[in-house]
Order: sequence, then C-alpha cells, then structure tokens
Amino acid sequence: MDIADPGRMIDCRALSVKLTNVHRTIARHRSETHPCRPRRCDGHARYLAMLSYRHGFHAGNHADVLKHLVLVQLLDYLAIKDKSFWYVDTHAGAGRYALDSRFATSRGESATGIARLWEADPLRLSKPLARYLGIVRALNPGGKLRHYPGSPWFARSCMRPQDRIWLHEMHPADYAALEKAFRDSPVPASVADDDGFAALKSLLPPQPRRALIMIDPSYELKSDYAQLITTLRSALARFATGVYLVWYPVIPRREAHELPRRLESTANGNWLRVSLQPRAPRNETSGLYGSGVLVINPPHTLRPALEACMPQLAELLAIDAGASFSIDSSRDLPG
Ligand SMILES: C[S@@+](CC[C@H](N)C(=O)[O-])C[C@H]1O[C@@H](n2cnc3c(N)ncnc32)[C@H](O)[C@@H]1O
Repeated sequence: MDIADPGRMIDCRALSVKLTNVHRTIARHRSETHPCRPRRCDGHARYLAMLSYRHGFHAGNHADVLKHLVLVQLLDYLAIKDKSFWYVDTHAGAGRYALDSRFATSRGESATGIARLWEADPLRLSKPLARYLGIVRALNPGGKLRHYPGSPWFARSCMRPQDRIWLHEMHPADYAALEKAFRDSPVPASVADDDGFAALKSLLPPQPRRALIMIDPSYELKSDYAQLITTLRSALARFATGVYLVWYPVIPRREAHELPRRLESTANGNWLRVSLQPRAPRNETSGLYGSGVLVINPPHTLRPALEACMPQLAELLAIDAGASFSIDSSRDLPG
C-alpha cells in the first residue's frame, strides 16, 4: 500500500524551495494588497504557524484514539438509516500516516496510544473499542501495525456511496497526501486546500440535512480558540440540527483551560463531553497531557457506548495510577 511518509516530503529539497517561493509570493502579495509589513501581517503569521504543525508527529497517540473512537460511533449512528449524510472535516490532515516514518518514530507517540490497543487481547475489548480497532486493522492487512488512519480515512471506512465527504487541509504537503489518498475513494469526496473555518460557512446547511461536522484544529495559534467559537456559532445558526464533533487539547494554556466551558455554552444546550488523561497532571508547563471531545447534538447511543468502553480505554492507555476519564453532558446539569 502506498502511504505517504510526510517526513520524506518535508525534507525534500524541492518542497522546501517550493515553500520558500510560496512564502515569498504571499509576502509579495500581502505587501501589495495590505498596508502592513508582511512579517506582522496576521494572514502571513497564520500561514507560517500552520506550516509548523504536522499531524504525522502525533498520529495514533492517546488523543487520536479518543477522538477517532467517538468519530466512529457518530458515523455508525448516521449510517444506520439509508438516507444519505455528509461528513465535513475542517482540519483533515494527511488522511493516513505511516507509523514507521521519521515523523512518527521521532516522538513515538503511538506507543502509548494505538499500539496499546493493538496488543490488547481482542476477546476482552468492549464493542466500541473493537469496532474502532477493526478499522485500524483493515488498514494494516499484514497483521503488523504500520499505518494509522486519520479522521478522513475513518469516515470513508464507515460511509456509503450515497454519502459525501468534504475535506479541508491547508498544509501543502498534507493536502497533497490527502488528495492522493482520496483519488480512489469509494465514497464521493471533495478535497480542498483552503481554510476549513471559512469553508464551513459556505457548506452549511448541507443539502441532505444530515451531517457530521468535525472540527479538529491544531491550536497552533492563540486565535484558533476564538475562531473556533465564532465558526461554531455561525455554523449552528445555519444548521442547528447537525452533529458536531470538536476536539480540544488539555494543555497548560489559559485559552485551552477555558475552552470546554466556552464550547458548552455555545452548544445550544445539547452536548456531551468526554475527556481522557492517561496520567496524573504534574507541574505541567508544556505538552499535551490529556484531551477531550465535545459533541453537539449527540445521538442517544453515544453515552451508553462511551460508558461501556471508557473505563477499559483509560486502563489500557494508563501511563500511571492517576489516569482518568470523564463523561459529562448537558442532561447532567441541574435544571
Ligand atoms: C490536528 S490536525 C488534523 C488531524 C485530523 N483531523 C485527524 O484526526 O486525522 C490539524 C490539521 O489542520 C491543518 N490546518 C491548520 N489550520 C487550518 C485551517 N485554517 N484550515 C484547514 N486546515 C488547517 C493542519 O495543517 C493540520 O494538518
């Protein structure tokens, strides 16, 4: 199977020349169209910060496992009815990742994520975990864990020919890998190298009136937090009945700490939130030590599924005795 190694792509001299040219073109364009110096311009800074994030470094880590476990539950629920639905991924990534690439091995994050599940006794796994793992296994037919599916790949594994996938990815190398991975998609798919936050507005409301919208920013920029809330508000105003999945990091940063509450208050009173911390918090100054997912308009099947599998997931991914998870929802709130 031909799966792009983003490490090879970014190290390639031709790409680096191309990126330098892209930067020059953007700087020239901005200096021609904006009265600010290119280095101080928001759009330029945003583009450069976006380039510094590559999901290949983190593929298959504990946060991916949690996010994709929930994603599969939502997709399976929408696919119960014959009626078609859309999947919109505003921050799609490369689509699938080689775990033996220099990117993935440099940090080895999958060792405390998907690798733990891969090694687990399959007969002991709860149904939601077994379903999720089945999709990872299908991408690794040789029986060795070499590749990890990204959110677009999970979507195409759960969807049908009558459905539609919309993918947005701004990084040139990850966009190229994604576009290639989806050329033979059995589910009709559109892949765009544009800003997913902005693109969402033009896609909503979806034509089949059934859709799952996945918003999974890299949070490289402080402004991502505010933009997420603005985008979500405008998306809900256009399509209040959609199912929305928003991933958020647990990191020592004020904006990240406040985000879950801000998401809850944006969610029109119908949300479910699940979070996982594989280890007890220490005196953190940096790094991702947990993550969470907020689902707006969650199907009634989601909470029982998570109650069935989260204790086992927390046990399998535990790094120390302080590993924990939580499941909360708008229904738990008094009044
Ligand atoms: C966390 S990763 C996505 C992972 C992917 N959703 C998955 O679960 O497999 C975030 C991605 O968003 C891309 N990105 C950052 N800002 C973006 C924007 N405004 N619009 C589209 N993509 C963006 C980054 O290049 C990165 O690949």
